[in-house]
This record gives sequence, C-alpha cells and structure tokens, in this order.
Amino acid sequence: MGAVDRCNSIEELNRLAKKSLPGVIYDYIEGGAEDEITMERNRTSFLDYEFVPRVLRDVKDINLKTSMQGRNYAMPLFLAPTGMSRLFHYKGEPAAANAAEKNGIPYALSTVGTTSIEDIAKISGGSHFFQIYVWQSRELVYELINRCKKAGYSGIILAVDCASLGKWERDLRNGHGRPLEMKIKTALSGITRFRWAFRFLTSGKLRMANMADHLPYGGDMEKTIDKVNEQFDASVTWEDARKLRDSWDGPFLLKGVQCIEDCKKAIEIGATGVVLSNHGGRQLDGAPPAFDLLPEAVSAAKDQLEIYIDGGIRRGSDVIKAMALGAAGCMIGRPYLYGLAAGGEKGVNRSVEILEEEMVRVMQLIGCDAIHKVDAGYLRKTGCNHY
Ligand code: FNR
Repeated sequence: MGAVDRCNSIEELNRLAKKSLPGVIYDYIEGGAEDEITMERNRTSFLDYEFVPRVLRDVKDINLKTSMQGRNYAMPLFLAPTGMSRLFHYKGEPAAANAAEKNGIPYALSTVGTTSIEDIAKISGGSHFFQIYVWQSRELVYELINRCKKAGYSGIILAVDCASLGKWERDLRNGHGRPLEMKIKTALSGITRFRWAFRFLTSGKLRMANMADHLPYGGDMEKTIDKVNEQFDASVTWEDARKLRDSWDGPFLLKGVQCIEDCKKAIEIGATGVVLSNHGGRQLDGAPPAFDLLPEAVSAAKDQLEIYIDGGIRRGSDVIKAMALGAAGCMIGRPYLYGLAAGGEKGVNRSVEILEEEMVRVMQLIGCDAIHKVDAGYLRKTGCNHY
C-alpha cells in the first residue's frame, strides 16, 4: 500500500502534498489573497448547517449518479480548472483528466494549463470542459474556442472574477515577480524534495501550452508568465461575455459569479450554468463563500440555469450539504491538486475516491438513498432547535 492509499482524508493528502513539494510551490497551491479570510470562510461556511438525519430507512445501496450540463456522471463532482499543473507533478493535467475519466466525472482544463486542448482531448471517453478568460487579444480567445469545437469539448467555462489578479502575499514573500530570487528559493526548498526536483528537471520545460503560438520562446512558462498576466483585461463587460456565449453552441458556464444580481444577468446572456466561486479565496479577500449564496442563487435561477459552487469543499458532507440546498454539482480545486502533488494520477484518483466514500457514508447516515432525493429537509441551521 502506497502513501497515497494510506490517506484517509483530503487533509491527509494535503499533508503528503506539503511533504512532496518545495515550500514555494506548495504555498502557490495553498495560499489565498491578502489575509486569507475568504479562503477560511469558504471552509467554515459549511459549519453553518448541520444534518437532520433519518434512521431505519433502507440505505444499503446509495446512488450518487447525477446529470450536469445535460450529461450523466457518476457523482456530482467536477475537477475545477487550475493553471500550471505540471508544476505540482510532472504528469500534470493528463493525470487529473485521466483520474476524472476513470471516476466518471468531468475535468476542466485551464487556459493557463501546461497541456494543450488537443492533448487533453486524446483522453478518450472523458468529458472535458475548457476554461477561458476574456483576454485583451479577443482573437486569441475565439481561436481557443474554435480549437475546443474541433477537439469535441463538452463545454466552455468563462472565468469572470479576474478583472485584476488577487494579491497573493505568500507568493510575494516567496519572490513572485523577482525571477532570480524565486529560482533560488525554489532550488533551496527543492533540495529536500529530491523526487519532485529530479522529475521537474528531467521532464521538459513547462510551457503555456494553449498560447504557445502567440508567445515568444515557444511559450516557455518561466520566460513568458509576465506576458500572459498582461493579457488579463479589466475592461471586460457583460456584452463581451454575451458575444463569447453566442460563439459556442453548447454548455456555457460563468465561473466566479458572486452575487444574485449577476446570476440573473447570466440567464439573460444565455449561460447554461453559473459557478458561484471566489476562486478558492484567491481573488477578492472579503468576497462571500459560495455556499452562503447558494439558496438565493438557486431560487433566482428558477430552473433556467444550473448552479454549481466551489471553494473549501474538503469533505463528502460538504458536497451533500450543497446538493441539499439545490446545487447541480460541486467543483474542487485544491483537493485534487493535493492528490496530484502527492502521487500523480493515483493521488487525484484517491482524492475523488475519498470524497465519494464520504458522500456514500453521509447518505447512509442521513437516511437518503439517492443524491437526487437530498433536499433542504435534510439540513437545519446550526444552533436552531426545531427537531
Ligand atoms: C485555481 N483556480 C483557477 N480557476 C480558474 O478559473 N483558472 C485557473 O487557471 C485557476 N488556477 C488555479 C490554480 C490553483 C493552484 C488553485 C488552488 C486554484 C481556482 C479553482 O478553479 C477553484 O475555483 C478553486 O480552487 C476552488 O477552491 P478550492 O477547492 O481550492 O478550495
């Protein structure tokens, strides 16, 4: 039994990831914006509700199967888009996409991924979504969408919470923006992480694989990351989002919506889903946790679009609580990145397996045999007394 198999919780995978990565790289995964208050609230928001368990029901067989964006999946989990995955494990995005495929859940590739749209599409049987930003070069964005059409992607996810990049103080302390200092710190912290360092140095340069043709040095990540960051556009409007939506015939989600008014606007532009998200607490510190917004968003959506949440999901019980309040599914970011860092595809697989096992156990303990039957009647606000 390997170290990854011995992990019994996402937190244990996190600890293993910390042991596997140089501190500078681990901080990049783990950190949030400024005082990391939103990141912390993402986690604690799930404590505001507890279960109303029912007993003596037949819960021998639990059905977690659900549909998201018109497709059937094994459970209501979605691997969120995360950039530069090869930094965390040399097998990077394909390891995550393979694990998603094996577990019957969708995977979202990030624009700033280190694997191309086409290479992820080769993972047959998988359901792949592609996350875009509205770059300053609109031409490049439409080119990416066309590549997704050709490659047969299931849907597009437009990240709308990046008018500016969050202030990641852990990264600033680690020398972000000062390449030489960062290199030295990574090298020093990499000394005790032989396995990571060896693989990193022997598995080829990290490239911004989806933008390589538009960047100098073949998209070499180290040399072009600043150029990529310059592409974020603070002048983006709902009209831009509408045009992008109109250019894609199929599931189109807005990720990073953080208020009810914007859920209604998402319906107006024809989005098929919204991911309530504060980017894992990495953008606006002081943004609300997605779970807090969920009930109102679901009622505003009036079955016209699906509502997903992400941020702070670390337990199967978190997913069940979200489903009880009307979510169509939950995205996870760090939980699978911990797995990836700790053990590549096997580690991602373990992270999904842990959450699935926990979901099944919670369903049995609350007395509900199918995910589509879980509703708000299974929850109560913590501290209320209305049994
Ligand atoms: C992210 N996230 C993210 N989101 C996105 O739309 N495009 C991206 O490239 C990235 N990159 C990224 C890198 C890393 C290291 C992390 C941790 C996160 C945000 C991600 O999709 C998701 O919203 C959060 O990770 C969800 O919160 P949890 O599950 O990490 O708590």
